[in-house]
Order: sequence, then C-alpha cells, then structure tokens
Amino acid sequence: MSDLLARHRAVMPNWVALYYNEPIEIVGGKGNRVVDGDGKSYLDFFAGILTNMIGYDVPEVREAVERQLATGVVHTSTAYLLRGQVELAEKIARLSGIEDAKVFFTNSGTEANETALLLATYARKSDQVLAMRQSYHGRSFGAVSVTGNRGWKNNSLSPLNVHFLHGTDRRLAQFRGLGDADYIAACVDDLRHVLATAVATDVAALIAEPVQGVGGFTMAPDGLFAAYKEVLDEQGILFISDEVQTGWGRTGSAFFGIHNHGVTPDMLTFAKGLANGFAVGGVVARGDLMDALHAAGLSTFGGNPISMAAANATLDYVLDHDLQANAARTGALIIEGLKAAAGRLPVVGDVRGKGLMFAVELVDPATGEPAPAWAARFMEVTKKAGLLAGKGGLHGNVIRMAPPLTITADEAREGLGIIVGALETVDAEAAS
Ligand SMILES: Cc1ncc(COP(=O)(O)O)c(C=O)c1O
Repeated sequence: MSDLLARHRAVMPNWVALYYNEPIEIVGGKGNRVVDGDGKSYLDFFAGILTNMIGYDVPEVREAVERQLATGVVHTSTAYLLRGQVELAEKIARLSGIEDAKVFFTNSGTEANETALLLATYARKSDQVLAMRQSYHGRSFGAVSVTGNRGWKNNSLSPLNVHFLHGTDRRLAQFRGLGDADYIAACVDDLRHVLATAVATDVAALIAEPVQGVGGFTMAPDGLFAAYKEVLDEQGILFISDEVQTGWGRTGSAFFGIHNHGVTPDMLTFAKGLANGFAVGGVVARGDLMDALHAAGLSTFGGNPISMAAANATLDYVLDHDLQANAARTGALIIEGLKAAAGRLPVVGDVRGKGLMFAVELVDPATGEPAPAWAARFMEVTKKAGLLAGKGGLHGNVIRMAPPLTITADEAREGLGIIVGALETVDAEAAS
C-alpha cells in the first residue's frame, strides 16, 4: 500500500470511497487528459464527477482567475456589489427560460437544493415534497430526505415529509415491457393516486433530476415530466429541476436537461461543472418565489469573486464554442458505438445516455441480475488501458461516463475503443 493511501486511511472517513484496488492520485491535467503520480496518462471520461466540464488547464479560465487574484480581492462579501455575481446571474437567468428569474449563489449542489426546497416550502406553506425513486440530491438533512437511494442515507431524520414517485424504474416487474406512452400513463396514474391518498393539504414541490446522476444515468422517458407538470399545475405544486449534473448543454439535445421534456421549471439548481472545478452552486427561480422569503439570508463564500471569475469564463467558453452541439455529436458517436457492441456482449444489460452522459449496466450473463463485481472489474481494465470512468446505480453495477464537453471526435473514438475492449474482456471472463 502506498504511503499516501495508508495516511489517507488513517485520517479520512471510510465512507468516502476511493476507486480502484490501487487508488490513484491525479497530479496533472491538460485538455481532456490527466496524469497520475506514477506518470501514467488517462483519457478522462468522468471529469472529476462531471465537474471539470471543459477539461484541464484552460487558459481562458486560468487567466480570468489570475486577473481576479491580481486585484488583491479574493473575498469582499454580499454586503457589497459583486460585479461577477450580477454578470453570471444575468446569463443564467436568461438561459434558464424561467420568467423574471433571480439567482442565489451557494458553494455546492447540496446547498443549492436546500435553498430551492426552502423557497418551495415557504411559498406553499407546506413541508410536503415529492421526489423520485433512485434520486440523489446531496448530503444535508433536507437533501438526503429527498434522496431515493438507501445506499446514500444513514438515517431517516428529515425536515420534510417526502413521497417518492415512479418514473425512472421501468425495470420493475409491473412496468417491464411497457412502451414510453404506457409507462408515462402508469406513472401519472400513480402520481394522482399519491396526491389522493398519501398527502395532507398542499404539496410544496416535486424535485427531480432530468437524468439521475448517482442513480446510474437512469432517466424518465422524454415527456414524463411534462405529463407530471400538468398534474402538478392543477394544484399549484412547484417543480424543481436539479441540474447539478445535467446543465450547460451536457445532454446535447437541450441546454438544461429538463428542457428535453418541454418543461420550464419554477426553479432550477446547479453546481459541479459551472466553474470548471472552482466551488460554485446556486438556484435560479421565479423572481416572486425568490423574493418572497421575509428573513435575511446570505452565503459567505457562495458566489465569491474567484468562483465567479471562473464560472463566467467557463460559461462563456461553453457558449462561444457551442459545446452543447459538441456534446450531441460526440455523445451520439459513443452511445451508438456502445449500443452496437452491446448486442454481442451478454454481460452488458443496458446502454443508455444523452449527449455526453452515458452509462453501461453490467449484469450476470446467466441470470441478467446486476453484477457489481463485473463493474469493478471493468474499472480495473479501463484504468490499465488509460481511461477514467465512474461507477454508480442503485446496485453499484453501472459504469457512468461523462467526459469534458470539450472532447474531440478523435478522443471520443479512442475512448469508445477502450470501453468496448474492456467490455469484451469482462464479457469473456464472465463467460468462462
Ligand atoms: C444531481 C445532484 N444533486 C446534488 C448533488 C450534491 O452536490 P454537492 O456534492 O456539490 O453538494 C449532486 C452531487 O453529486 C448531484 O449529482
């Protein structure tokens, strides 16, 4: 065991899991590749869990941060005007499509979701919230309470009364074999039933990820959230789209994931990739909802000048280079390649994705049951071949991948080749 690993184990929590039998330390990065402490190079198909959104050592981001540092001001406070916050909020408000939108900046996705849940429960004078099964929304009490994955919940303490909906679980026996329209109809029926039976008085909001991140890139069929929203609108129930993983064009077909459903939410939360690795999160909400809170509020570090410099530069880069279109192009190349290979590899239970957010589900070829051991093996094989991927899913058997939005077509083909090669290796081992 390396010295650093031993020291890590001595002082870091056990529940912060490390990837790989021999975990790596990433010590350098350029473009869409990183280098570990042994000098081994990797094509990065996980991007620090979708956070190094436009790759490594991007001059535009570095120079923006250096310009801010050169002013001598790392922090002022929200007691003073913050030009970077105003500029970024203007852009995000416009891109969100939300009417008269206002933005509040935080340091993380968890805090962003806490803020959205506060706005919704306050506006609706209700502690009742709907969330999706298999979801993940963060690690505070509120965010965990709307998380629908037991593997990420330590207890049931909750500031909210939460009911979980179907919509991303069509592998369950009662839904298996249904086409999109029938599945959506069944889910809407269930939503109506929940509203008729399980709740008292008004419900504050539904919070949902358009594509579930930790859940293993499971997703509702396009149109489900529009159908849900029709029902929610009948009762004035608000819709919060958690775009922490799906924002900024990553799904290729829309700038925010929820727009794939033709839905404009009342609030949208974001974090991860916006500042290309600098800490930022936030909520963009209808102005009336945002302004309604009567008590004062601020986030000391939320939207600090350094993060804002990085975030403005990153967002400008995404827009100026039309990285959404690149996500659509390169994502389609990879997903089509994976689907073509899956047909001849019984260890692959499913391939799914949207743009540069794609996943492969590994199963026991004999039973079709989730096979986390084969997912772990895939991780080792791709590591050796020089590609970083991520793991997830309710059963830990899903390989999820999300390269930087800057990935080139050549890099996409290179990564696809490594992934298919690793799947062939794992498939052969599973068959023997
Ligand atoms: C969809 C989603 N929401 C919220 C969060 C929480 O974000 P953070 O870890 O920045 O608190 C995450 C983190 O993985 C996420 O994937």
